[in-house]
Amino acid sequence: MTAKIIDGKEFAASVRGKVAEHVAGLKADHDITPGLAVVLVGEDPASAVYVRNKGKSTLEVGMNSYEHKLDKDTSQEDLLALIDQLNKDPKVHGILCQLPLPDHIDEPAITSAILPEKDVDGFHISNVGLLGMGLKSMVPCTPLGCLMMLRDHHGSLSGLNAVVVGRSNIVGKPMANLLLTDSCTVTIAHSRTKEIEALCRRADIVVAAVGRPEMINADWIAEGATVIDVGINRIPAPEKGEGKTRLVGDVDFASAKEKAGAITPVPGGVGPMTIACLLANTVTACCRANGLAEPEGLTA
Ligand code: GUN
Repeated sequence: MTAKIIDGKEFAASVRGKVAEHVAGLKADHDITPGLAVVLVGEDPASAVYVRNKGKSTLEVGMNSYEHKLDKDTSQEDLLALIDQLNKDPKVHGILCQLPLPDHIDEPAITSAILPEKDVDGFHISNVGLLGMGLKSMVPCTPLGCLMMLRDHHGSLSGLNAVVVGRSNIVGKPMANLLLTDSCTVTIAHSRTKEIEALCRRADIVVAAVGRPEMINADWIAEGATVIDVGINRIPAPEKGEGKTRLVGDVDFASAKEKAGAITPVPGGVGPMTIACLLANTVTACCRANGLAEPEGLTA
């Protein structure tokens, strides 16, 4: 079987389109413009690119973007003061503090200082707890994007066997909770899991989020299974010339696509969904803050 390739770029564009439509409605009907504040501490080049892209995408869907770029030596106290100011600002519906933070800043102290209802990353302990209980919360963007793609492909996920490979707080654990809430039978596999290949081979859905380039190949995949590849790994590509690199996922795409029923590529799969879901979370947060109906299809 040759798999259907799930096009994350196209899917993300449709999510951004729905967000833009909802934003236009909020402006026209209620004179409200959702606002997202993004905080960057220091000059990490990769983080600076992410923050720039987030700001640009926010403006493109008609929302307000508030960028706060702080010096790498900013004290934790000053960062907390900024977060307090954003928490209190009624124009700001979503707050994201780009990680990683400099070593002298305690990350959990910062993520738990953001008001849970403005926590568009879904990292606050209250949101983690609500998600674990299957209650309404802000959901981390990458797993939310994966869930949207899985629902779109399968319709109902009820009763399907799902294996999530990777147990991170940002992807693996929230992904498993989302799948459980959608009535999948969920296993979380990780580096210590016994017979991990055989376990994955029994799955209708495999979500790969381990950060190990091309670890999962066709032998791990059941005929016709759906494979969601969250990994983004840069590896040497001598075939492209000396010193060149290329991006690959946690799945060996070339072999897996011959066995899977559907699969996300890297790049162009899950990646573009993350920012789209950040925008979706921001419009959701804005609706909740104003007691308005949430946008359909943009939440978990
Ligand atoms: N750094 C890398 N990915 C993320 C993300 O999703 N959210 C935040 N806040 N920082 C990140």
